[in-house]
Amino acid sequence: MPNQPDGTEIQSVLDDIAIRMAGEADRGEVASYIPELARVPLNRFGIAVAPLHGEPIIAGDAEMPFSIQSISKVFALVVALGHVGASLWRRVGREPSGDPFNSIVQLEFERGKPRNPFINPGAIVVSDVILEHQSDEADPHPVLDLCQRLADAPDITVDEDVFASEVATGDRNRALAYFMLAEGNIRGDATKVTERYFRQCSIEMSCRQLAAATRFLATGGEGADADIAGVTPERVRRLNALMMTCGCYDASGEVAFRIGLPCKSGVGGGLVAIVPGVGSIVAWSPGLDKKGNSVLALKAIEDLAHRLGWSVF
Ligand code: DON
Repeated sequence: MPNQPDGTEIQSVLDDIAIRMAGEADRGEVASYIPELARVPLNRFGIAVAPLHGEPIIAGDAEMPFSIQSISKVFALVVALGHVGASLWRRVGREPSGDPFNSIVQLEFERGKPRNPFINPGAIVVSDVILEHQSDEADPHPVLDLCQRLADAPDITVDEDVFASEVATGDRNRALAYFMLAEGNIRGDATKVTERYFRQCSIEMSCRQLAAATRFLATGGEGADADIAGVTPERVRRLNALMMTCGCYDASGEVAFRIGLPCKSGVGGGLVAIVPGVGSIVAWSPGLDKKGNSVLALKAIEDLAHRLGWSVF
């Protein structure tokens, strides 16, 4: 069982990390392939820990909303599993890809079945499943709705500028969707499916909100609304397994080696890490490394996990 420090100890370590991160010179580069993301100042850094009970403990820019991007793939997977259960795995695999998140090469060899639900093609199939089960397309996005409910924050929204920027520059994702359509693994309108995917990536949340919303992954599903059909203890264990093996794309092995916790990253610079039985951690800083993971968020969570003795190993 990982160490269970008290709130005061966690607060003082978070404060210290925020001060040290402010002085870091090597901050990576802000994602520019989605132009709207490139506008976020490089000097931002926030961190939050949501223990199993009570309010998240925060430091730095932890109340500032940022684009959750691929972190939304965890929430989308919960929604899709709630609709179709284990039959999802006939359309999406559960193996790390070893390739970048937007790679197309493997998809051709593997006849349109993405390696896992966290690379872009896998998340696009998950979006197709969600859209197929949405009775009215005009309903609020189920992934946004889930984020609001889990964080208990109805004011969480989609950043429409980021969304427009993703639609305008999303040819690679549309290529992935159309390729899978040709292989029979997309059932709906491929353009609409990618728009749903862009919309979930454009949800904005703060570290505090995201820590609260991912806490169910540390509690084994307890405490999440009873009507969230995808959240069962068994699924929560499996979501953690997928985050550990595939959550940071072709850096997942390196992240497991450095941090030793299930993690999920996004190109908005957010990083979620789960300490089973203890709580969830979210760090955010927009500068990324070459594999699309936040340089300072990785560094901060690595430091926090080592100082507090948190690891699943
Ligand atoms: O589809 C994309 O490229 C982005 N909306 C999301 C990618 C992402 O966050 C990958 N994560 N590191």
